[in-house]
Amino acid sequence: MSTVPPEQSRPSVDEPHQHRQIAESFGSDAARYDRARPRYPDPMVARIVAASPGPDVLDVGCGTGIEARQFQAAGCMVLGVEPDARMADFARRTGVEVEVATFETWEGAGRAFDAVIAGTAWHWVDPVAGAAKAAQVLRPGGRLAPFHHVFQSPSEVMEALAKVYRRVAPDSPFNLSSQLTRSALDAYQPLFAKIADGIREVGGFSDPEQWRFEWEQSYTRDAWLDQMPTHGALTQLPSDKLAEVLEGVGAVIDAMGGSFTMQYTTVAVTAARTSAPPDPA
Ligand SMILES: C[S@@+](CC[C@H](N)C(=O)[O-])C[C@H]1O[C@@H](n2cnc3c(N)ncnc32)[C@H](O)[C@@H]1O
Repeated sequence: MSTVPPEQSRPSVDEPHQHRQIAESFGSDAARYDRARPRYPDPMVARIVAASPGPDVLDVGCGTGIEARQFQAAGCMVLGVEPDARMADFARRTGVEVEVATFETWEGAGRAFDAVIAGTAWHWVDPVAGAAKAAQVLRPGGRLAPFHHVFQSPSEVMEALAKVYRRVAPDSPFNLSSQLTRSALDAYQPLFAKIADGIREVGGFSDPEQWRFEWEQSYTRDAWLDQMPTHGALTQLPSDKLAEVLEGVGAVIDAMGGSFTMQYTTVAVTAARTSAPPDPA
């Protein structure tokens, strides 16, 4: 994460989607979330749209509507599914239709879609139940495309974050120190394998592929400290501890000249629906 995006520093348990308190904590400051979180690369949006048989998109864990608005701008009709009513309300105010539910409990009610997408949200969904639900609502040839931002902070920023976080949140399920010894992309591979395994287990899909999109973004100290509290490891920290984390990371960014460049790889794990899913037992 960021430094913590919850994503990069997911809870150190096998099944992050079972951490429901964290999974549904992002609406604690929806406006900040929408303002500070990165958008998705346009070439990825275009590739998913081109590889889907039509414009009807279901956006799982749509949050405040960041990627939903990007798919709308690309000509799609988007329905969001989002369990956190605070995030859903924000998305609705920006013109995104949203139904409040977890994806696992959401009722498709006979509706059909050309693509099921999820922006940095599929790790909060049961990977087998999620793929099964996607298979139920995708038209033949429809595309399942959960994607995640993987970001690689400069080592100084990551080390500062891990050090302060260890001190202020020693019992947290997030293990930020584990990010110091391997690349962010390597750290994400177990998640991507789990997503692909869920799709294979459900069946009725082509073999999952990874589509990768590399890009970078420069952050001033203020812009990065604005985003950090939206990351899952920090959304539930008491304000004094959050302030300590921000101060520690801010001091390091100051020492780097007041800004840095973040390297992003946005990865979609994607497969097309090839046949009707088996009836649930
Ligand atoms: C990191 S945020 C991503 C929000 C948005 N897609 C984006 O990229 O800006 C993860 C979102 O997944 C939602 N979420 C958590 N568990 C979920 C579930 N089981 N089904 C659907 N969405 C879920 C959270 O409420 C949150 O809005």
